[in-house]
Amino acid sequence: MKALFEPEFIAVVGASNDERKIGHIVFSNLIRSNFKGTVYPINPKASEILGCKAYPSLTAVPGKVELVVICVPNTLVPSVMEESGIKGAEAVIVITAGFKELGKEGALLERKVGDIAKKYGMRVLGPNCMGIMNTHQRMNITFTNIHPMTGSIAIASQSGAVCSSMLDWSTKSKVGFSKFISVGNKVDIDEADLLSYLKDDPDTNVIGMYIEGANRGKELMSEAFRTSQVKPIIVLKSGRTSSGSKAASSHTGALSGSDKIYDAAFHQANVIRVNTIDELFDLLQVFANMPMPKGDGLAIVTNAGGHGVMAADACSDYGLRLASFEKSTIDKLKGYLPAAANLYNPVDVLGDATAARYEFAIKTVMEDPNVSCVAVLLAPLDTVDIKAVAEHVASFAGKVSMPVVGAFVGGTKTNVGIELMHEANVPCYDSPDKAIRALGAMVHYKKMREESGDTAPVVVEGDKQRVKDLIASVRRTGRTSLSESEGKEILRAYGVAIPAEITAATPEEAARAAARIGFPVVMKIDSPDIAHKSDVGGVMVGIGSESAVRQSFELMMSKVRSRVPGATINGITICQMVKGKEVLMGMTRDEQFGPVITFGLGGVFVEIMKDVAQRIAPLTRHDVDTMVRSIRSYAILTGARGGRAADIESLKDTIFRIAQIALDFPEISELEVNPVMVGDEGKGTYAVDALVVLRREN
Ligand code: ACO
Repeated sequence: MKALFEPEFIAVVGASNDERKIGHIVFSNLIRSNFKGTVYPINPKASEILGCKAYPSLTAVPGKVELVVICVPNTLVPSVMEESGIKGAEAVIVITAGFKELGKEGALLERKVGDIAKKYGMRVLGPNCMGIMNTHQRMNITFTNIHPMTGSIAIASQSGAVCSSMLDWSTKSKVGFSKFISVGNKVDIDEADLLSYLKDDPDTNVIGMYIEGANRGKELMSEAFRTSQVKPIIVLKSGRTSSGSKAASSHTGALSGSDKIYDAAFHQANVIRVNTIDELFDLLQVFANMPMPKGDGLAIVTNAGGHGVMAADACSDYGLRLASFEKSTIDKLKGYLPAAANLYNPVDVLGDATAARYEFAIKTVMEDPNVSCVAVLLAPLDTVDIKAVAEHVASFAGKVSMPVVGAFVGGTKTNVGIELMHEANVPCYDSPDKAIRALGAMVHYKKMREESGDTAPVVVEGDKQRVKDLIASVRRTGRTSLSESEGKEILRAYGVAIPAEITAATPEEAARAAARIGFPVVMKIDSPDIAHKSDVGGVMVGIGSESAVRQSFELMMSKVRSRVPGATINGITICQMVKGKEVLMGMTRDEQFGPVITFGLGGVFVEIMKDVAQRIAPLTRHDVDTMVRSIRSYAILTGARGGRAADIESLKDTIFRIAQIALDFPEISELEVNPVMVGDEGKGTYAVDALVVLRREN
């Protein structure tokens, strides 16, 4: 990676004297960026390119070549790769397009490129990429003629087009980059590799990424987690992976779309996810230029009450708190501001505010111990000197120990102030919402980092042999779906509590079983061919007597037989009726990330409510705490409206056990427990149902 980012000797294969050619543009950008190392243009037809002696081939270069940049047509790339290997290059950038994005043939060509790189131990960026920049080394190896300023933001993008948008934005917003990487098709170097390098890059303080899909989900998560402990990562993720969840037969499968999996992965890795390119820009600006806030208390200073209210509203959306000022702060403000000014947060310095009034109010609130960040709002009233306010904020923001941002709301008039602030590297937005969102992201990142504390996954001991034997016996029958009782056997082997139950083959057996378990009971059809029992009349609850059990037995059998003719029916299971709140737990397996654990409110409306959260196993305590707390209906579990609190500790314990089953048995492709009954505090959590599906054997 050092050879890629900090090379001394670079060769550009396909460099040309023809100004329209990409090889010419890449080479001329490298020269024009004032790169201090040695550059060799490689072209069999030219003797000199842009004043540099050209060589007919890489092997003709007299000295060492660390990095090779390839700008020749796709079919020539493998032979240039071979030559690069022979020449001893350590890294290659393949700008050339026409690989896997073109289909099968292109994919084969791309694989060839990857294989040659492996053979010679070279790292490859691309193919089909725009190249890289290292502004601190004055190195621009791309075919864009925008040379961004030196700065502390590293950008990695899977899309070349997004790259060009970011570069253009950087010049408008006066934002500087440390590194700029167009990753292209990722035949070798991917985001995980880049994070591992950027984590220790002293020139980079914040990392922005545009990702369409990860090649190595697990590696991306662990590198992102390590890196985000040191510097923030902001990701704009679009596109979708072809996750196996579409084919999933359980509710859990339908609930866990691939994009939700990325949500979980980013959450667990402390990555800040944004949804739009604007948001990415806004956040990069604040993280690159402002110190981290110490707390979540925000002070707002505004010349317009309306904007102040909007900003105050946005606080709760973005996890900020309007700071309550000390009495001394209020007294000080009162001593200087006009009588009509609002002295409490948001501080309204009034429509006729001068820059001096802004200055006094900002300085005063910053001295308050409850304030950790400041938003300066401005409406372009004719009485305000926008330039003077901007100059004042720009004179200290970024140099004090808390983040200060502006929101100058308007258009033509306010632009003067916004540009002035940008010149001084002070984030200034065109709406209160954007300013508060940016500050909120800082507080959110700080919290994520502080709270993720214990990184050790929870390990549960289970009876592996018992599960292995059971899976083997199911395999022998040629099935991939387990019956409910087989599924429960697996859960039991891992210590998940199951209500007492006995499967009965006749009405008489059922009545005797119910008497042993104790009334009321639940009756459920036991069939490996029926995944959703209640849909076919296979579940009856609250049966209170032996005679009712006998009757229900006959009724259920005839219903199920008529609705699912030909299904194998083992009998009817008589179960202890457990009380509690209904939740759902499940697992699906994602190609990229591995076992995805789903938790949410259960019941018949689960797919409508979609009140679920996901995490990727292995799970830490923090993962499970945040997963359980993050569902909208969490308050129901903690005892909303006078209800009793559920046994949340035993619920979490059950999640760990299910995650362990998923980790220990990769052959289980899906698992769902729905419902899980969570009793009142101290009463335990019971798996009432179990759906287990095995991976198909090839
Ligand atoms: N070694 C060195 N030079 C060579 C070799 C070789 N083995 N073979 C040919 N050359 C020379 C050529 O003679 C030519 O030089 P010349 O102008 O002096 O004659 C030069 O290399 C380039 O070769 P051409 O055949 O002219 O190829 P051209 O420049 O038309 O195309 C390119 C090459 C740009 C790599 C093209 O194949 C391509 O992939 N274009 C798309 C690039 C792209 O979009 N990448 C993704 C970016 S990300 C995004 O989408 C924004």
